[in-house]
Amino acid sequence: MSTKQLERFLAATTAIAGAKEEKHILRAIITSAQEVIGARAASILLMEPDREHMRFAIATGPASDKAILARVPVEGSVAGWVVKNRKALNLPTASADPRHFSGVDRITDQRTENLLCVPLLVDEQVIGAVQALNKEGGEDFSSEDLRFLETIAVQAAHALQQADNRRRRKEELEELRRQMTNKNILIGRNGGLQEIFEVVEKVANAKTTVLLRGETGTGKGMIARAIYEASSRYNRCLVTVNCANLSEELLESELFGHVKGAFTGATANKEGRFKSADGGTIFLDEIGDISPRLQTKLLRVLQEQEFEPLGSNRTEQVNLRVIAATNRNLEQAIQEGSFREDLYYRLSVVVVELPPLRERREDLLALVEHFLTRFSRETNKRMLSVSPAALEILSGYEWPGNIRELENAIERAVVLGEGEMLEVEMLTRHIRGEEVEISVVGQTLAEAQRNFKRWFIARELANHGGNQTSTAKDLGIQRSYLNRLIKQLDISR
Ligand SMILES: Nc1ncnc2c1ncn2[C@@H]1O[C@H](COP(=O)(O)OP(=O)(O)OP(=O)(O)O)[C@@H](O)[C@H]1O
Ligand SMILES: [Mg+2]
Repeated sequence: MSTKQLERFLAATTAIAGAKEEKHILRAIITSAQEVIGARAASILLMEPDREHMRFAIATGPASDKAILARVPVEGSVAGWVVKNRKALNLPTASADPRHFSGVDRITDQRTENLLCVPLLVDEQVIGAVQALNKEGGEDFSSEDLRFLETIAVQAAHALQQADNRRRRKEELEELRRQMTNKNILIGRNGGLQEIFEVVEKVANAKTTVLLRGETGTGKGMIARAIYEASSRYNRCLVTVNCANLSEELLESELFGHVKGAFTGATANKEGRFKSADGGTIFLDEIGDISPRLQTKLLRVLQEQEFEPLGSNRTEQVNLRVIAATNRNLEQAIQEGSFREDLYYRLSVVVVELPPLRERREDLLALVEHFLTRFSRETNKRMLSVSPAALEILSGYEWPGNIRELENAIERAVVLGEGEMLEVEMLTRHIRGEEVEISVVGQTLAEAQRNFKRWFIARELANHGGNQTSTAKDLGIQRSYLNRLIKQLDISR
């Protein structure tokens, strides 16, 4: 070993040991592999959850940007052989080897002359492989090169494991913090939501698509998270996309991704959310609002688990759990021709209907107590009970904004009120059922308009028992517009 090589080797192991985040470690590994061994290209392939494919976590060298797009089968590739047999390989004429997977060469338009490949073991588990390709100067890789790469892989595995431990500790801390602020605790297990929790537990581990339905603020977002957390995919990501917030074009490239030059302004490749969620769960919120054209594309993702990014003709395969939510009446949308019937059936394999708060008053007290505890804690107060008169009012109110509205009402009372008990006066006039006089003195036109709109819409909603479809009809506006107004104007307060 030359002194130069030894120096490089030491520098490499120091860099790997010093890197804290996974992506820095991966980068340090391959740069070292390339420099120490004198390879033209290097890459790390990690096992996919299905254990039948591997994907590039990182690659360097010519055409590495193309290489990382490839998906390599375990059966029929050198990396796959190395992973399965837990043995390193030194192949002087790689392309002649029957185990060589030519797919990557095809995509990158490069030729693999010779290659080294060693398994990456973490905790006795093979998580992937490190490869070094094409020795500089046209020579073959030596057995010393192979030993280097093996040593680097051991170091790397150690660093990756530590990064993983750090990440897990961080997640545990976050989980603990969440539990302490009781923000994500679901109330209603013993009351009106009991059946829903049973369904959640039953479907959590299947890959089944779940459609959550219910008025605004009934907890669709929370149930989606609960399904994800109870599922075996909890160690993978949950990607949430609100389909109502973006224009059709933006939503399309957000979901499917695009390649550079796919349209004006597409200056770089962009990974879509379906791809980011691969192996995990994607939550498509407000799915009733997507355009017919995107409905067609979405149907294919649901049925075939495949799609093409915009501007690309390369088909992406994904493994996705889809959870969708809507507060729209999809049956009506089908009749009106704005929602595809086949997509509706594909989505509604399991449907969870979240009841409005006015239909599950048995949960009301538990929810009130839950929010009192939470906001008392957050504001350092001790308002932990409700006066009987206030409870009567809360129980009699229609709650068009459902749990979100109740949550906001309690927050307001805790923040503005004094004492240990929530009293009637701490509730808004609107909730108390007193006709609200809207004072417009000293307000700008915009403020007065906003206040009037808020009061007017809240009253109309309450008159319709919170039903947004019929309210919108009477107000002569689109239901999606009403829904936007409710959120914009913070109607539940
Ligand atoms: N069962 C529950 N227990 C405690 N809090 C809840 C429960 N359900 C909902 N919440 C709270 O109510 C609020 C509204 O819930 P969420 O956002 O999940 O409703 P949503 O149905 O998704 O509403 P939207 O249709 O407006 O998006 C959230 O702040 C959530 O924390
Ligand atoms: Mg929601």
